[in-house]
Amino acid sequence: MAITSFTSPVSASLRRPQGRVVDVPTAVRKVALLGFGTVGSAVAEILCSKTFPQLQLTYIFNRNVARKRQPWVPSDVRWTDNIEDILASDADVVVELMGGLDPAGEWLELALRAGKCVVTANKHLIATRGQELARVAHQYGRRLEYGASVAGGVPVLNAVAAGLAGDPLLRLQGVLNGTCNYILSNMDAKGLSFEEALQQAQALGYAEADPSDDVNGVDAACKLAILAQTSFGLSVAPQQILARSILGITAEDFQQARKRALTIRQVSSAERTKDGLRLSVQPTMVRSDAPLGQVRDNQNVLVTTGQWGGETIFAGRGAGGGPTAVAVVSDLLAVARHHDSGAARAHLDAPDAQVEGDFVRPHYLRAQSAEFAEVMHALECAGIQIEESSGPSRWEKANGSAFVFVGDCTTAALESALKNLGSGSWFCLPICR
Ligand SMILES: NC(=O)c1ccc[n+]([C@@H]2O[C@H](COP(=O)([O-])OP(=O)(O)OC[C@H]3O[C@@H](n4cnc5c(N)ncnc54)[C@H](OP(=O)(O)O)[C@@H]3O)[C@@H](O)[C@H]2O)c1
Repeated sequence: MAITSFTSPVSASLRRPQGRVVDVPTAVRKVALLGFGTVGSAVAEILCSKTFPQLQLTYIFNRNVARKRQPWVPSDVRWTDNIEDILASDADVVVELMGGLDPAGEWLELALRAGKCVVTANKHLIATRGQELARVAHQYGRRLEYGASVAGGVPVLNAVAAGLAGDPLLRLQGVLNGTCNYILSNMDAKGLSFEEALQQAQALGYAEADPSDDVNGVDAACKLAILAQTSFGLSVAPQQILARSILGITAEDFQQARKRALTIRQVSSAERTKDGLRLSVQPTMVRSDAPLGQVRDNQNVLVTTGQWGGETIFAGRGAGGGPTAVAVVSDLLAVARHHDSGAARAHLDAPDAQVEGDFVRPHYLRAQSAEFAEVMHALECAGIQIEESSGPSRWEKANGSAFVFVGDCTTAALESALKNLGSGSWFCLPICR
C-alpha cells in the first residue's frame, strides 16, 4: 500500500522519561481532528503533551468551534468549523471522533480521496460502511484504521487481525458495551434497580442521554459485526445480528443467578458454523468466576477460541475518553510507522456471511406464580426439558414469581412455546456455563 508524503524529520529513536527506548519513524505526521468531545479532547491532550513528537496536531474541527477552544492547545493549532479547511489542508491523517453515519462517512471518503489517511473510533460507521471506505482507502493507497471502534482501550481488533492471525478462530464471546455492563454489574453488586444504575451510568458519563442503542444491543451488534469480519473474514451487517434488550431484568433474576454462582451480563457471541456464522447480542447468565462474569463497570472483555491456540482473553477499559484516546493514538502511531494492522484489509474482499441467530443453550425462565402450571404444561408440550423449578407454594402470594431452569434450547424455541401464555409477562435468559 502506498505511503503518504512526510514532512519535517525528527530523531530516529526517542528515550521516554521512564527510560524505555521506542522506535519512532523519521518523519512527523500532521494530524487533523474532527470532533472535540469526550474522545476528541482526550486525543488532543495526548497529542499536545508532546509524548509523541512524530504526531503533530495541526487542526481541530468542530461545529460552532469557538466555544470549544482550550488554553492548553498550542497557538499554532488551527480551530475551524469549515470542513473544507481540513480537506484542503496539508494534514497527513484525519481523525474522526464525531460519531454518527452522516456527515462523518461522506467527509472521511472525501479525506481519503484527498490523499489523507483516516483513523476513526466510529463503530456505527465502520459496521455500516467499513467495506466501502476500505475500498476507497485501497484505491487511493491510503490507510484506514479503526482500532478504537471496538472495546475502546482494549486492543482487540489489532489482536485478532495481527496477533491471532496464525490461528483460525472458531468462537468469540465478549462483553462489549460499557453502559450495559455498568448497569448490570451495579445491579448485581449494589442491588440497584435498572433505573438507578442507568442514572448513575449517565451521571458518570458512561451512558448517553438516550441509551436505547446500548440497552437494545445495537451498539454491541455494530462492534460484533466489525469483530466478526476481522476475525472470520466474512462480511456482516449489524442488522443481521440478533439483538435482545437488557430491559426487564430485575433483582429477582440476579438473586436466582447468585444462588447458582452465576451473574448476568450483556454477552456478544460469534461462532463459525458449517455455512457461515452464528451471531447474537443478548443478556445472558454467566458464571460469576468466569472472565465474562468478572468484568465490572465500564470494562470490556473478549474471549477468543482458536483452532490451535485455544482460549485467549483480552480485558480492560472499554469506554471513556482516556482509554479510547489511547487506542486512537496507537492507530496514529501505527500509521506513522507504516504498520498496517490488517483490519481494513480484512474488510476489502470479505464475502457476505450467511448469518444464523440463536445459540442452543440452557435457559432460565421467570414467570408469574399464577401461571406456573400453564408454563410447565407449555414447556412439556414443546419438548423442552425442565431441569429445575420453584413454583408457587401454598404460602406464596398469587402475584409472586416462579422460576424454571430448562435444558438446551434456543431462546426462539422458548418464546414460541410460551407465546400463548395469558399475561405474556414471562422473562427468559440463556445460560452460558
Ligand atoms: N466515549 C467513549 O467512551 C467512546 C468509546 C469508543 C468509541 N467511541 C466513539 O468515538 C466517537 C466520539 O465519541 P464521543 O464520546 O467523544 O462523542 P461526543 O462527546 O459526543 O463528541 C463528539 C464531538 O463531535 C462534534 N460533532 C458531532 N457531530 C458533528 C458534526 N456534524 N459537525 C461538527 N462537529 C460534530 C460534537 O460537537 P457538539 O459538542 O456540538 O455536539 C462533539 O464535540 C463516536 O463515534 C463514539 O462511538 C466513544
